[in-house]
Parts: sequence; C-alpha cells; structure tokens
Amino acid sequence: MKGKVCVFGSFNLDIVAVMNRFPLPGESLTAQHSMMGPGGKGANQATAALRAGARVHYIGKVGHDDFGTFARRHLEKTGFDAITLFTCKEKPTGNALIYVAGNDAENMISVYPGANTTVTAAEVTRCQPTVAAADILLVQLENNLSAIQRMIDNARASGTFVILNPAPWQKISDALLAKVDLLTPNSTEATQLSGIAVTDFASAQQAAERLHRKGARQVIITLGINGALLSRAGQQWRIPLFPAQPLDTTGAGDAFNGALAARLASGDDLPQAAVFAAAFASLCVERAGAANAMPSYAEALARLQAHPQCVAESLAVCA
Ligand code: RIB
Repeated sequence: MKGKVCVFGSFNLDIVAVMNRFPLPGESLTAQHSMMGPGGKGANQATAALRAGARVHYIGKVGHDDFGTFARRHLEKTGFDAITLFTCKEKPTGNALIYVAGNDAENMISVYPGANTTVTAAEVTRCQPTVAAADILLVQLENNLSAIQRMIDNARASGTFVILNPAPWQKISDALLAKVDLLTPNSTEATQLSGIAVTDFASAQQAAERLHRKGARQVIITLGINGALLSRAGQQWRIPLFPAQPLDTTGAGDAFNGALAARLASGDDLPQAAVFAAAFASLCVERAGAANAMPSYAEALARLQAHPQCVAESLAVCA
C-alpha cells in the first residue's frame, strides 16, 4: 500500500445558519450566526483523507462562476497531491443550504448539485490513469450515477479498492453493489438500500445481512449515537461512539469516510481503520463547518489513546 487515495465527488459552496431551533414551514427565524465555506461530500472526504495522512488526488466539477473560482482557489491551497477540476458552462457550482440547531448540533441540508451532475464519459476516461495509480477510489452519490459507475468500472479494471459512501441516497442496482469492495451507508441510507428499517444495532445487523445477500461484500453502517456496525464474511464488529462535545455535525460522515480510506490505503486492516475513523469523526463534530472542520492525524491518534476502552470494545468481534 502506498497510501494513495483518489476521491471522485462533489464540491459545494456551503451556506450555514446556526439556529436555536430549526425553523417551521412558513416561519422566518433569526440565526445566531452564519458562515459560508467549502463543502460537498467529495471535497470534504478528500480533505479528511488528506488530514488523516493519505496522499490524495481529488476529482470534481464546478460551474463557470464565482463559486467555481472560490472552489479552485480553495482546493489548490488545501495540500492535495493533485486536483482534477472540470468546469461546466451550463450549470452552476453546487451549493448547499445548511441549518445547524439543537443540543446535539444536528443539521438539515438542502443540496443543489448543479455542475456536480454533469461529469461526462470523456472526463471519466481522462481520469483513468489517476484511478489506476491509487490504492483506493472513494466515491459518494452526489454526482451523476453514469460517471460514478464508470469510475467504479475503471477502478475494478485496474485493481483499485472501491469504497462507496451512498450519500445522498439515490437508487442503485445490486450489480453496482457487487462491484464495490466496501459500502458505508448511514442508518437512513441502509434502510433505503436494504428495505429494513435501521433504528438500532440489531436492525443494522439485519440490514447488513440483506446488503451482503444483494452483493455488498463488506459493509459499515454508521449509526449516529449508536456508533457503527462493521460487517463482513460472517463476522461483525461494534464500533462505539467516541465521547465528543458536538458543535456542528455537518461533515461527520465525510470525516469518517475520508479517514477510513486513508487508514486502509496505508495498510491498516478494516476494523483498525474503522476505529481510527470513528475517533477522527468525533473531533470533526466539535468544530464548525465541513471541509474546514477536519482534524489532523495526530489529534485523532490522541483521541484514540485517551479512550482505550473504545478501542478494546471495537476490536472484539460481536457476532
Ligand atoms: O456531508 C456534508 C455535506 O453535504 C455538506 O458539506 C454539503 O455540501 C452536502 O454535500
């Protein structure tokens, strides 16, 4: 393993309002504060992988507009090994309107994906050498499915390990699930993919079994305050939640996925990588924003060391 992660995914300009509570339909409510910053599940996960120690090549697409200029400037100074940023003349840069509210700093997000959904077959072909050179290809579902499928096919052709974070959910075939090495839904996405309502650890176990039958070989279902379930080949692990003081949960799933990819690319086995990713994500929720909220490798390591009981619990097979 060379520690190389290729992330193909969205860039969005995030506009965040922090509220005492979520507004009701038809209601205007004053925010406590507001900010604008880089986001999009792809760019967030790429940043997380970088901060967790991987060499990262980010592939995305933006509009020919001010938000697109902002994206390019931001991505160029982030520290990636390389970026491939295509430009779309017809659709604007993706954007997301985000409310953060409540004691658990939960969020509500509306995404307009714009240029993210216009990646062409020719553009995917231009990325083939990049995908082939990576240890891991990490993708989500915030781009057009045709491009995601082609990227996955290219990764398989070159033996690159594929992680699919199926967020935000869109309908995907069982044939696609079978092409993926690791599937990482949250509880909502696992419900939609499996048809089993995932409300707790036991129902997550059932959903994982159903997803295996549909072709997914290895599955991690993130379960919010219930931690995560890792399931593969007749073995299951419970990954506990690391203690945290949540300020903004936006990007927590992205932190988990990016860190997971980074640790797998550097040679960790899956349970070890998942525990590291859980510690990494617990730090992300203590900071405001998405891409800018990713902690460092050293900070995540310190959190792991501060909670040896979480690590011990995680590494015990539970089924
Ligand atoms: O996962 C968080 C991200 O979802 C935000 O940054 C927003 O852009 C949406 O894509």
